[in-house]
Amino acid sequence: MDFKSVSFVGSFPNEAKCPDSGWPEFAFIGRSNVGKSSLINMLTNQKDLAKVSGTPGKTRQINFFAIDEQWYLVDLPGYGYAVASKKAKANYERIIEDYLLRREKLMCAIVLLDSRHDLQAIDLEFINWLGSNHVPFVIVFTKYDKLRKTEREVNIDRIKASLLESWNSLPPCFITSSKNRHGKEEFLQFISETLENFYSHS
Ligand code: GTP
Ligand code: MG
Repeated sequence: MDFKSVSFVGSFPNEAKCPDSGWPEFAFIGRSNVGKSSLINMLTNQKDLAKVSGTPGKTRQINFFAIDEQWYLVDLPGYGYAVASKKAKANYERIIEDYLLRREKLMCAIVLLDSRHDLQAIDLEFINWLGSNHVPFVIVFTKYDKLRKTEREVNIDRIKASLLESWNSLPPCFITSSKNRHGKEEFLQFISETLENFYSHS
């Protein structure tokens, strides 16, 4: 899947202010610093399209990127940013939840999990929230390059096993590295099939 055009549309403080073009959207969500913005850059072959930072809490608004003037990638603020005040956290949560519950053309949420760590309580809580609210989602494991060869299967299997303690089955899962571009084609294939499905039914 090759993109002909990629452009930053804007940053929006809440769902009501987001563009209403009728184009389908894919939204990246996950803990602060998990690699959402890096993944968007990797998928679109851009260096600085989405702002990346070693400091968590970089993405604070809802960022829209238009692809081929047909669909959007959406970069959401991270959840679980430890340093943020209680009030700020509640504010981010509201932004994220409103967005996910209200967007009519949201194809799915793309939940990013760091492949190095065990499943965190906050991730499970968020995934369960998606389930209870019937928001479709897929899982993307990030930072795969940071795992040693011997850890790779074991780590991902451990996270999946933790999820299967709460869920009967798993959604589609993708393993990625924004550094060495692992998993790019497979994930873009999923996007391409979802879009084909959308357009053939609309
Ligand atoms: P917030 O906007 O703060 O919520 O963070 P984010 O989820 O958008 O993370 P971001 O893409 O800014 O990446 C956070 C840090 O992880 C940066 O230092 C990235 O360079 C690094 N990083 C992201 N993805 C990868 C990856 O696949 N491999 C490696 N080695 N580093 C990565
Ligand atoms: Mg970000």
